[in-house]
Amino acid sequence: MSTLDVRAEAVTVSPPSPAPVPPRFDFDVAIVGLGYVGLPTALAYHASGSRVLALDVSSRRLRTIAARGADLIDSDRQRLDAALRRPGDFRLTGDVTELSRAAAIVVCVPTPVDHQQVPDLAPLRAACATVVAAARPGQLVMLTSTTYVGCTHDLVEQPLRERGFEIGRDVFVTFSAERIDPGNVGFAQEVVPRVVGGATPRCEEEGARLLSRYAARVHRVSSLATAEMTKLLENTFRAVNIALANEFADICGALDVPVTEVIEAASTKPYGFMAFYPGPGVGGHCIPCDPHYLLWQLKALHVDAGVITEAMTRIAARPRRVVERIRDVLGRAGKGTLGARVLVVGVTYKPDVADLRESPALEIIDHLLDVGAEVQYVDTHAPHIHLDSGRERDSLADPGAFHPDVVLVHTRHHDSDLAWLDGDALVVDGTYRSTDIAGRVLL
Ligand SMILES: NC(=O)c1ccc[n+]([C@@H]2O[C@H](COP(=O)([O-])OP(=O)(O)OC[C@H]3O[C@@H](n4cnc5c(N)ncnc54)[C@H](O)[C@@H]3O)[C@@H](O)[C@H]2O)c1
Repeated sequence: MSTLDVRAEAVTVSPPSPAPVPPRFDFDVAIVGLGYVGLPTALAYHASGSRVLALDVSSRRLRTIAARGADLIDSDRQRLDAALRRPGDFRLTGDVTELSRAAAIVVCVPTPVDHQQVPDLAPLRAACATVVAAARPGQLVMLTSTTYVGCTHDLVEQPLRERGFEIGRDVFVTFSAERIDPGNVGFAQEVVPRVVGGATPRCEEEGARLLSRYAARVHRVSSLATAEMTKLLENTFRAVNIALANEFADICGALDVPVTEVIEAASTKPYGFMAFYPGPGVGGHCIPCDPHYLLWQLKALHVDAGVITEAMTRIAARPRRVVERIRDVLGRAGKGTLGARVLVVGVTYKPDVADLRESPALEIIDHLLDVGAEVQYVDTHAPHIHLDSGRERDSLADPGAFHPDVVLVHTRHHDSDLAWLDGDALVVDGTYRSTDIAGRVLL
């Protein structure tokens, strides 16, 4: 019988040192951090029959969830509705002392970078300190936030040892990065395999058992560090390939070759090629941030990572490249940037989400305003934006009435309607794939 089974009266452990009999737990799993990743995760556990304690330090976030106002795909919205009707086995809370009521604790708090691209570990440190302080014998702790190699050891395993727990006997420490793609209805959380590593083989086993509650496939690796590094490879791979796709777009532009046609043709090769598409930059909480966790760690160790460093530099420079392209397009039409009316279509970092974090659109709009353009935007998913400069904008209700000189197509949601485009404005297609817009130019 598993130590994670809340119905367990006792736990069978290997001799010679018997573990203390764990107490009964009221919840199978507690999710710490109910953001874009943590909330769907909590709902996936609940839908699989687990009793879930859903914890966030933000009372505002808890209110939003309770009011069914969180940004979720339809299937998760239905799950939330069902969960909220069963408060006995889906409990929303901001009270960290309740963590002791859960057999397993899954930490899913943000791991951003600051303006200097240095990892900001404050939320993860705070969450781990809370979890360690609340830990009870029999509990499993699983970090799922993307982070540097060695973090689970530093913030969970070692502090638990210092509290006197024997890891792998009294408590279990694991790492399994989330792979969810918020807003993507094509890959339900259950079908995406999970990778798990443990501080000891027993920890790994318990971690795999927890994930198996909803994940169809669990891939076990030999250590916490391997699991942490796996996530860094996944997202660094993506960042480097996006940087390459952007560079190929610029090269194709210079040689007058249609880049998307080239990528689609290359994609017919059934091995050794994977399609990545160019765009106006990258956003969200992963690609612009995660590789910096690795670079930050490598810098301290004086380990060279030239390819990754260059890719991240190019990615950071992309929004300015977009601004230069808009100025160039205006210039070719005999218009200056000063006073030019620029309309940005779609400001979220990707289609069909409301997430504005690290969205290139925000930086593009700020730069355009800095050089004297008059800039507005339209986005059904983001009614209001705050820019780093402190400026604010509301999405236009009637974009056609703005009579833009140039339109930048930044993000296209599936429900985005461009019927108001009258053919007078220049259109710069930052998506490279808006083939339905006549006369568009590529970035
Ligand atoms: N967003 C993605 O696409 C994605 C995908 C895979 C993995 N990840 C990783 O998942 C992690 C979480 O990302 P996210 O996008 O869900 O973040 P988020 O900002 O959407 O949500 C994080 C939540 O954690 C809460 N929180 C912060 N500190 C806390 C604490 N000490 N205790 C309890 N709650 C706390 C916040 O109030 C917030 O609601 C990150 O490490 C990220 O890299 C994100």
